[in-house]
Amino acid sequence: MSLNTEIEKRRTFGIISHPDAGKTTLTEKLLMFGGAIQMAGAVKARKASRHATSDWMKIEQERGISVASSVMKFNYQSNGHDYEINLLDTPGHQDFSEDTYRVLTAVDSAMMVIDSGNGVEPQTEKLMEVCRMRNTPIVTFINKLDREGLEPLDLLAEIEEKLQIECAPMSWPIGMGKAFKGVYNLYKKELNLFSAGSKTNDFDTIQISDLSDPRLDELLGTQADELRDDIELLEGAADPFDLEHFLAGSQTPVFFGSAINNFGVKELLDAFVELSPAPGPRDAMERTVHPEEADFSAFCFKIQANMDPMHRDRIAFFRICSGRFSKGMSVRHHRLGKDIKIPNATIFMAQNRSHVEEAYAGDIIGIHNHGTIKIGDTFTGKEPLKFTGIPNFAPELFRRVRLKDPMKRKQLHKGLVQLSEEGAVQVFKTMLGGDYILGAVGVLQFDVTVARLNAEYKVDADYVATDFQVARWVTCKDDKKMAEFRRLFESALAEDADGFLTYLASSAWKLNYTEEQWPDITFHKTREHI
Ligand code: G4P
Repeated sequence: MSLNTEIEKRRTFGIISHPDAGKTTLTEKLLMFGGAIQMAGAVKARKASRHATSDWMKIEQERGISVASSVMKFNYQSNGHDYEINLLDTPGHQDFSEDTYRVLTAVDSAMMVIDSGNGVEPQTEKLMEVCRMRNTPIVTFINKLDREGLEPLDLLAEIEEKLQIECAPMSWPIGMGKAFKGVYNLYKKELNLFSAGSKTNDFDTIQISDLSDPRLDELLGTQADELRDDIELLEGAADPFDLEHFLAGSQTPVFFGSAINNFGVKELLDAFVELSPAPGPRDAMERTVHPEEADFSAFCFKIQANMDPMHRDRIAFFRICSGRFSKGMSVRHHRLGKDIKIPNATIFMAQNRSHVEEAYAGDIIGIHNHGTIKIGDTFTGKEPLKFTGIPNFAPELFRRVRLKDPMKRKQLHKGLVQLSEEGAVQVFKTMLGGDYILGAVGVLQFDVTVARLNAEYKVDADYVATDFQVARWVTCKDDKKMAEFRRLFESALAEDADGFLTYLASSAWKLNYTEEQWPDITFHKTREHI
């Protein structure tokens, strides 16, 4: 099959949501449509064990589970087309971390799940900010319509305001909670009638192209007129769907449903595969790389450590950007300038791992390594390339490391640098005093770091609190200004593991103030890997 045919059928995406909005439930239904799982509950069971927090065994368990569910690949047929779907996990509970952000650098589109009762919640806002960096197209699913929630128009207004993205409703709900009757598909002009507790997707669908059709009154009673009024209102108030705006990331098509009842999920998936883009071009420092190019290229966006101290290997996850990967091929690891043979790459089918024979742009492969691969590394067939857009994200939580045995300072340094290369945590060394400050996005990363320092580097460390709450990488074109800034802010400056200067502030207010006072200094929220 030609490369183009393979590329065209691939869809690589992640789900962005706040905990408890219904991501796991929706994932499970999507996998069922793809025939990847037969039984509801399989994904749920994994998630239940993921809620475990941080003692050693539990972390180990948790890491093992995350590996298995990092990527789920399944096939799906819609409207006579075959699709190969790569669904990348975006951990959102205790294991919410920088990885969750970085996964979004490896997708071509995203699905956003919003709980109709809670509207837009903080974690969704953060993840949306990451999507906006690459203008990732987003399809929205407003979930839990079987419960009383916010008014649909208010929800759309909230999405538009908080997430700064135009909403184009594709379907419209009829009632909610106990009065939820279903949705009217505004484009297909059909009514999907809801019945609670359906295990399949055989909800009644009735073609109603003209809303004055009296069948609407028979089916919906007094709610028929409410629907008519709503849709009349929408015609003036809501934006029509525009594919170009969607692909540019400035508009999101919105669907309503109830994941747990499997209602609206098939419609969502059908529209998603049709509208969302196949793998597209990717920027490297040298040039833009197109997926249909014959030469293989890929970048590492995630490294998963095996928490078993007896097996120190790690799995590096690569997103393929061009060409064809075949088992046993040699690829060039450009940062090290070495050719390596990849005998066994792993591809993640929905439930189990299997060895890859062939993979194409958009696919994710896992490669075992012993610490030589860093986040952001590029592998290609031959051409020296360095993909961009897989950055470090400014941490949001901070701890000062306390070393229990001062003789182990060297090991501590080594361990922290390696862990930061894997993206497990970020390390900053203060300019004054040379203390280690760790930065993370999720609190579990701190527990994992201490546990791994102990198990892998024989370093006994713990944490003390710090005042720092915000970090920004700082650069300046004017060397004199930079020197002045360094002198005045020495106590708030640190170097990260790659030696980049970082400003640490005790509050967002303090950061804003400093930014205003120092217009020549650029404060960066992300930092590209070298
Ligand atoms: P998450 O992965 O985004 O964290 O959410 P998850 O799917 O686990 O769903 C969170 C809770 O919301 C679960 O309830 C789930 O059953 C419920 N839920 C998901 N979709 C719907 C829906 O369409 N309607 C309603 N009413 N509830 C929904 P739970 O009580 O926390 O867990 P469980 O006991 O049901 O497993």
